[in-house]
Amino acid sequence: MSGVSAGPPTPTGRARANTYSISKVEDTKICVVMVGLPARGKSYIAQIAQRYLQWLSIPAQTFNVGNYRRSDAPHPTADFFDFNNAEGERTRRAAAEAAVADMLRWFRSGGVVGILDATNSTKDRRKWVHEICEANGIEVLFVESLCDKEEVIMANILDVKTSSPDYKDQDPEEAANDFRRRISQYEKVYKTIDGDGDEGDYTYLKIMNIGKQVIINRIQDYLQSRIVYYLMNLHIRPRSVWLSRHGESLYNLDGRIGGDTMLSPRGELYAKKLPELVRESVGDDRPLTVWTSTLKRTISTSRWLPPHYNQLQWKALDELDSGVCDGLTYQEIKDSYPEDFVARDDDKYNYRYPAGESYRDVVIRLEPIIMELERSEDILIVTHQAVLRCIYAYFMKKDQAKSPWMNVPLHTLIKLTPRAYGTEEIRYEANIPAVSTWRGKGSTAKHEAPTGDTM
Ligand code: ATP
Ligand code: F6P
Repeated sequence: MSGVSAGPPTPTGRARANTYSISKVEDTKICVVMVGLPARGKSYIAQIAQRYLQWLSIPAQTFNVGNYRRSDAPHPTADFFDFNNAEGERTRRAAAEAAVADMLRWFRSGGVVGILDATNSTKDRRKWVHEICEANGIEVLFVESLCDKEEVIMANILDVKTSSPDYKDQDPEEAANDFRRRISQYEKVYKTIDGDGDEGDYTYLKIMNIGKQVIINRIQDYLQSRIVYYLMNLHIRPRSVWLSRHGESLYNLDGRIGGDTMLSPRGELYAKKLPELVRESVGDDRPLTVWTSTLKRTISTSRWLPPHYNQLQWKALDELDSGVCDGLTYQEIKDSYPEDFVARDDDKYNYRYPAGESYRDVVIRLEPIIMELERSEDILIVTHQAVLRCIYAYFMKKDQAKSPWMNVPLHTLIKLTPRAYGTEEIRYEANIPAVSTWRGKGSTAKHEAPTGDTM
């Protein structure tokens, strides 16, 4: 069994020396081998899986064979992909070998999940990758994406393929036509995994028409099953996620952390304004589902939202538990727990308050939230500073060392819209003044103006 869990706190509140503990996961090495015709969302799945794993602190890296191929054949036409084109075959084989060689080096330097992003559309190619991985002690999980919906394939081509570096400076219509011919070349040799009944020993996940149907074969361990479960929950229907902190609270005014206080008068104004801000941002009357924490300040902030918005309270969205420091100001923490104060600033992501939590702990308890978010459509989350930083870091691929220092102002609605390659962000300010709860390294100020790189 592999697991990602946080170790118990030590007397100083630090997570025990770097064992917080993905140690079992680190013993595992998995190569996720993407399979499928072009424009079936393989690169999309690869990059989103990488983002999820990295967010969970699992070293993950994608190796895109197309990027290797481009160094020798930057703007190939469909003929290049004809399997009778010996020169094209050689170049593509060399690109796959270079990607796999880099991936093996990366595994030797501590990589845990390598994602080989290519069509891997023939049985020979899959056998070759499987043998190399096996010889190097790496488990193989094939992930095949099948899609026979013409409209989805065409939308994918127009969405990402005509703007691919392969078609730089080319007419989009010509690019789309050439790409369709490229797909036809692959169709001539493509074999779905175990389509002939002789790949049944492989571990694989087949995703048909974006999760309408999935087939899972011989999943071997916990990390593999987590990856599979995550991928099964993905969809590509257009949707957004709205994030807001609660309105300014009485503790925010005092510069105290944690607690379960009510909103300040300005926080109440934000709560009243939130429905208008949401309406402006959604742009139509469609209802959102609202998730809050179980604390009074997020529930109060959401209470003026339209009654037909379904509201759910999640314990997992409660603020980072500051343990023995709950209810204190940063100055009081420095006075009473000087070592902790320094230790937290040294490594804010991993530092765990005595009898409380670290940012790393919060990420782990947020995993079910992320899973549910991936399955869902439009969701508004009203939560707290640290929790919002962690959710934001997932969507925006923020570095763990930086995300706990991010400025997330009060009285601001953030709209995140996942796109094929990245997440778009729009912020809506309520223009209702509030204190700053951001704090720079070393500072004990109650309300400090954010400085430097706080995003
Ligand atoms: P290529 O082999 O040319 O690299 P690809 O299979 O990697 O193609 P992507 O570049 O990932 O294709 O295609 C991206 C598009 O696929 C996006 O528009 C995305 O919304 C869509 N997409 C994501 N997941 C799926 C899926 N499971 N099935 C079909 N399309 C998907
Ligand atoms: O100050 C508001 C607050 O939500 C506290 O309840 C919480 O402890 C803190 O922010 C988290 O921010 P930081 O990790 O920067 O201390």
